[in-house]
This record gives sequence, structure tokens and C-alpha cells, in this order.
Amino acid sequence: MDVVRKVRKNLEKSRQEATKYHEQGNVVMARTEYANCARQLRYLAGLSKPSLREGLINESRKYDELVVSLGGQPVAPPHGPGLSAPTVESPGVTGQQSKLQHAVLAEKPKVNFAGVAGLDEVKEHIREAIIDPFVYPDEYAHFGVQPGGGILLYGPPGCGKTMIAAAAASEADAVFISLKSSDIKNMYVGESEKNVKTVFTMAEQYPRAIIFFDEIDALASERSSRMEVHERSLVSELLAQMDGLEVKGEPRNVLVLAATNRPWGIDIALRRSGRFDTTIFVPHPDRPARQRLLEINLQDKPVSASVSLDRLTDLTEGYASSEIAGICQKAARIPLRERISDNLPRRELVMADFEQVLEHTKTVLDSWYRKALKELAHSEESETFAELVLMAQGYRFRKER
Ligand SMILES: Nc1ncnc2c1ncn2[C@@H]1O[C@H](COP(=O)(O)OP(=O)(O)OP(=O)(O)O)[C@@H](O)[C@H]1O
Ligand SMILES: [Mg+2]
Repeated sequence: MDVVRKVRKNLEKSRQEATKYHEQGNVVMARTEYANCARQLRYLAGLSKPSLREGLINESRKYDELVVSLGGQPVAPPHGPGLSAPTVESPGVTGQQSKLQHAVLAEKPKVNFAGVAGLDEVKEHIREAIIDPFVYPDEYAHFGVQPGGGILLYGPPGCGKTMIAAAAASEADAVFISLKSSDIKNMYVGESEKNVKTVFTMAEQYPRAIIFFDEIDALASERSSRMEVHERSLVSELLAQMDGLEVKGEPRNVLVLAATNRPWGIDIALRRSGRFDTTIFVPHPDRPARQRLLEINLQDKPVSASVSLDRLTDLTEGYASSEIAGICQKAARIPLRERISDNLPRRELVMADFEQVLEHTKTVLDSWYRKALKELAHSEESETFAELVLMAQGYRFRKER
């Protein structure tokens, strides 16, 4: 189904729901559905020919008025073609449901690929698997290529997995539904599965959505496969929902991404199911990436011309991206502290500031790569995560330097 037809279908559904709720006197739900109508009309306007646009916008304003007449806020004009999430403010939602809704309501991420340093191969992979199917659905259909399947990002902590997932959604102009296991897991039997279902149902309502399971090892851990029966059924539900996305002949509007820094700890059913058929290694930053990270993190700081970016790039070898960001912050704190606590004149950051910070900054990658090698040697998954094994073997452990 093309995007316009899908939006029209959703619009019709929201219209019917709104009328039903209005007639029942359920003001809150009626307001929510009227707001959905307004949003979908604006979205349609964004997709339509200029001659039709004004009519659709006017119609959406009428729904805005209805929302206001029922005590709500008018729908803010969406950015771009308007992929903002419909308001969900159903009465009597549980804390967990509202967490889920919050995940959906999150604004479109601001970060894009340009803001992610390095990781060119990862970006290329993601572009092919996630962005192109959204942007060129006709081409995929023409060549009979089924897009998607799940993508599992794995790699050391602090090197951009979460960031690149958000950037992918932003590049694809998709609603980004980012979930942690605490958003999904519920102690009551059957509730976690229901949450998974709800997430997929919510996502289906958008022309484009990316569901992102962050730290998926916590959701589907090996431990759970042996010990917790109802956590197993959570994984089954997730797999079933992912299967449900495989509607033949229709371009997908929902793609699934997941991330972990404990790939060896993920439930084998998930890894072997083929649903996460693409695994992408997100490595720690190489030289060009570190240089870019330094540029990004120093651009708003007064850095002396005497600071050699080249040398800093060398000195930060082996650190995670988040650690390099932290090093820049800490270095800037030195002259800041001098200025405030010691009332010294303002000065620029110099090399000595960075050297002082670096001397006291350890990297987590050391122990992380060691552990990865150990864990993967025990598992039967070394081949699946071959790139990680290679990178870990090539990582010069800092103590050995
Ligand atoms: N490639 C990158 N480019 C620019 N900044 C980065 C990059 N990677 C990490 N950062 C910085 O580090 C922070 C943490 O990165 P992120 O949360 O994406 O790491 P992660 O790989 O998901 O780690 P974890 O495994 O601990 O969840 C980001 O918010 C960003 O400030
Ligand atoms: Mg993360």
C-alpha cells in the first residue's frame, strides 16, 4: 500500500473513532482522535500537489478547532511533511503504557549522519537496509528485493550505537520509537508481550517508523532463555511481531533496529532466528573519526592555535567516542575553574590541559575487548561476530603499550 493510501486509511479510522468517542461523551479520546485527524491531514497535505494542499490544510484546521472546543491544544504545525507522532493521552493509562507512549511521542531525533563521526561503513549499511527502502519503495518492489529484516548493532560501549540508530531515523524521516527493556518488561504474566504488541501496533500507524530496542541483551538475555519462562514468551512475541511485518508485496513502513554491547549475552533464539539477519559492528573510532570527534567537541571551545589536532588525534587512540567527548569537556574545565575559583583572566585551552586530562583518563575499551574475546571464545558465535573478534585482537591493550 502506498504511503498516501495508508495515511488516508488511518485518517478514516481516526475520523470514525473520534465521532464514536464524541458521541459517547469521552472527551479525552475524542480530542486525541480529532488531533490525529488534523495531523494526518497535514501529513497528506505535505505529500499532495500544491493545488490540493490548501484544502487539506483548511480541513485540518477544522479538526484543530474541534480539539480546542473540547479543551485541548491545537496541533502544532509539523516539521517537513509532518511525521510527528499522534498525541496519545488516553485516560487511565498505566505507568508503563505511558512510558511506551512517551517513547513514541519522542520528537524526531535532531542528530543526523553528519553529526556522527566516522562509521562510514556502518552508515552505508544502514542506508541500504533502512533508509533506501523508505525512500525508494518502488525500486525495491521493481527488483523484488524485500527490505528490512532486523538489524542488530553491536560493539563497545560509548561508540555511537544509540546515536547512529537515532540518526538513521532522522535520515529516513521516520518516527523513532526507542525502547529500553524497562519500557517493555512487566512482572505480570502476559503484560510484557502485550507491550511488545502495543509498540508494533503504534508503529504501524505511521507512514514510516523505526522501532529501536536499545540494550536488547537486557530484554532477551541468555539467562532468561533458561530461567524465566515468561521472558521467553516475550522473545517469541517479538519474533512473531517481526514476522508480522513481512507482508508480501507491500513496502514496509516499520523497520526494526536493536543494539547491544553484550552480543554474546543475547538469547540464542533471537540471534539464530534470522529476524536480525544483519549484524553490524560499530567499532571504536579510527583516526579520521577521532579527528572529526575532536572537531565536533572543540568547536564551541576557545582552543589555542598552538594545540595540534594531529597530536591530539594520536593521543586519543584506543578511547571510545564518548570518552573523547568527555576528555574535551574536562580539558575545558581546567581554565574555567581557574577563571571562576582563582579569579584568573580568561585563557584558551592549551595542550597541557589535554595532556593532564589524558593522564588521568582510563578507557573502558581495554576491559571490554578483553571480556569480549573471552566470552566469544566460549560461545559458538565467534563467526557471527567475527569483526568484533578481529578488532579485539588488533586492539593494543593500553597496559601493554
Ligand atoms: N560516532 C560518534 N560521533 C559523535 N559522537 C559520538 C559518537 N559515538 C558516541 N558519541 C558520543 O558519545 C555519546 C554516547 O554514545 P552512544 O550512546 O551512541 O554509545 P553506545 O554505543 O550506544 O554505548 P552503550 O553501548 O553504552 O549504549 C553520544 O551521545 C555522543 O555524545
Ligand atoms: Mg547505547
